[in-house]
Amino acid sequence: MDPAINVQGLTKHFRETTALDDVSFWANPGTVLGLLGPNGAGKTTAVRVLATLLKADAGHASVGGYDVRTQAHLVRQRIGLTGQYASVDEKLTGRENLLLIGRLLGLSRRDARRRAQELLSEFSLEEAAGRAAKTYSGGMRRRLDLAASLIGRPSILFLDEPTTGLDPRARLDLWNLIRRLVADGTTVLLTTQYLEEADQLADDIVVLDRGRIIASGTPEQLKQHIGARTLAVQARQEQDVPAIAAMLADLTGGHAEVAGLTISVPAPDPGHLPALVRRLDASGISVNELMLRSASLDDVFLTLTGRHAEPTGAPTEQRESSA
Ligand SMILES: Nc1ncnc2c1ncn2[C@@H]1O[C@H](COP(=O)(O)OP(=O)(O)O)[C@@H](O)[C@H]1O
Ligand SMILES: [Mg+2]
Repeated sequence: MDPAINVQGLTKHFRETTALDDVSFWANPGTVLGLLGPNGAGKTTAVRVLATLLKADAGHASVGGYDVRTQAHLVRQRIGLTGQYASVDEKLTGRENLLLIGRLLGLSRRDARRRAQELLSEFSLEEAAGRAAKTYSGGMRRRLDLAASLIGRPSILFLDEPTTGLDPRARLDLWNLIRRLVADGTTVLLTTQYLEEADQLADDIVVLDRGRIIASGTPEQLKQHIGARTLAVQARQEQDVPAIAAMLADLTGGHAEVAGLTISVPAPDPGHLPALVRRLDASGISVNELMLRSASLDDVFLTLTGRHAEPTGAPTEQRESSA
């Protein structure tokens, strides 16, 4: 089976910034490829090259079997693109937005109406169809944006951070819509900053960091490598931190990361938590907080690169609560 998306040695510079540095990956038809990385990793640049909106400096990319450089018009007939920032016209109603795109794609007035109606009902936007898009919630706008990218029935869909900024409920709705599209045979390239999202949706994940691929594999392979969970302990007093760090490292075999009073370590085995409680008890150390949480992108980066996902960012806890 020929890959639906095939990228070989893609490189793109913007002046002194290397946005993509010899990047290669591929996606089989009917699967989801997750491009996972923090801000500035090169995700949008990759999507723009694949969607024929930007020319790479070097390398080769094909989409649906067509070369993005020399056969751009054939590529465009097969793809849908939902950008990082919703691209609907705010002044138009939901229905008008879809009709407009249908007409731009060359559908007859009647076919455009029919397709718009199909998508409005499929995406639970019927009730809001007659309202200006500027009155929509964030989740509704993303659904409208996704619906707009599906008017031409693309076989390959690029979703650039489709759920960034959405509340958990709207995120789940969108995940389900994406799953349905994939079940119908669509190939999806999804970019995300959320390990959990890639884990939920992707068949294969490519981790990007400053334009380079730093890891790739199935979600299972990646989680095995980085630890699906993180065990974190907040010490009660500073003097206990080294002992707790040593205990965590010994227990899990991983490297314990210390930030203030908080010590964390990848914990592949959920049994590590009760084992830790017993050891703390045995050594008479009492702690403020103990938690086993799902690994975040930041944990992935710490394990793979030894540094945090966003070099200038806020501490992990703050970033997670805002994510
Ligand atoms: N049009 C552009 N001009 C100059 N620099 C750019 C441009 N687009 C992206 N970059 C830079 O390339 C790098 C990768 O950006 P981008 O692909 O948008 O990352 P991501 O989507 O993963 O956040 C960043 O350092 C960004 O500042
Ligand atoms: Mg981006």
